[in-house]
Amino acid sequence: MFSVGKILVTRSLPGSALEHLRERGYRVEAHEGLFLSREDLLKKVEGAIGLIPTVKDRVDAEVMDRAPGLKVIACYSVGVDHVDLEAAKARGIRVTQTPGVLTEATADLTLALLLAVARRVAEGVDYARKGLWQAWHPELLLGMDLEGATLGIVGMGRIGQAVAKRAEAFGMRVVYTGRTPKPLPYPYLSLEALLATSDIVSLHTPLTLETHRLINRERLFAMKPGSILINTARGGLVDTEALVEALRGHLFGAGLDVTDPEPLPRGHPLYALPNAVITPHIGSAGRRTRERMAEMAVENLLAVLEGREPPNPVV
Ligand code: DGY
Repeated sequence: MFSVGKILVTRSLPGSALEHLRERGYRVEAHEGLFLSREDLLKKVEGAIGLIPTVKDRVDAEVMDRAPGLKVIACYSVGVDHVDLEAAKARGIRVTQTPGVLTEATADLTLALLLAVARRVAEGVDYARKGLWQAWHPELLLGMDLEGATLGIVGMGRIGQAVAKRAEAFGMRVVYTGRTPKPLPYPYLSLEALLATSDIVSLHTPLTLETHRLINRERLFAMKPGSILINTARGGLVDTEALVEALRGHLFGAGLDVTDPEPLPRGHPLYALPNAVITPHIGSAGRRTRERMAEMAVENLLAVLEGREPPNPVV
């Protein structure tokens, strides 16, 4: 059958957005399965004019050069740290993202992790499942009270602000840091002051060369003793090895939806720590959110291929 061009989608996507592409005459190759190896990506991208990658596909110059006709990389994510933007720019390839649509879902999961760590939910579930629950006791699984606690938000973009709104509903005091102060009703602090005074620190900043290991050993141990770290942004923001040490006494706990490396290998020391609650990068994994992300990626992709300005350009 005649096709107007090949589109590689590196995983199957929820919803019917890809049908829309097929109806327009594109040959859509959506990779089935949990993984797409580097080797397969390099092979499958050949001949593609459009690419929809996930956050787990490294799209660098080598990938781009395998598909000389590639016009657009429509990321199925708001984060674009997996794409070499300079290489794309140099080749005239447009790069797009899916901002906004996953803000609420990611903020929800941030609160889920925050609550789970502060109130030791995962430990409690484990305790009950293992048959250890034999009595009520005034000192059983005591956690951190959220009312009146200070939440320090690192990166007050869309997701940071959605987290702040939720935290206020729990009676928390919100402070934040970022590149510049914003006209918001929360105190703006330096990163150092925020780490020293927050009961909970939540990361919402993109991963870039400047933010890589932003929360290094020194900063982890500069956090208030007995405080909590939440990361639903990118694993590379935190020094994992130092975090393991900090969780062995200095910190109350950590809630991590993203890790470095990701996924964490089996048997990683973080899994053995009862005060680490780890989820497998599911911040945006609401069904409607993920369907909408697919629609946005397709809208962006079609716009470029049809010669229009994409709604959510990065490059
Ligand atoms: C993103 O969009 O960047 C998330 O990490 C995956 O939804």
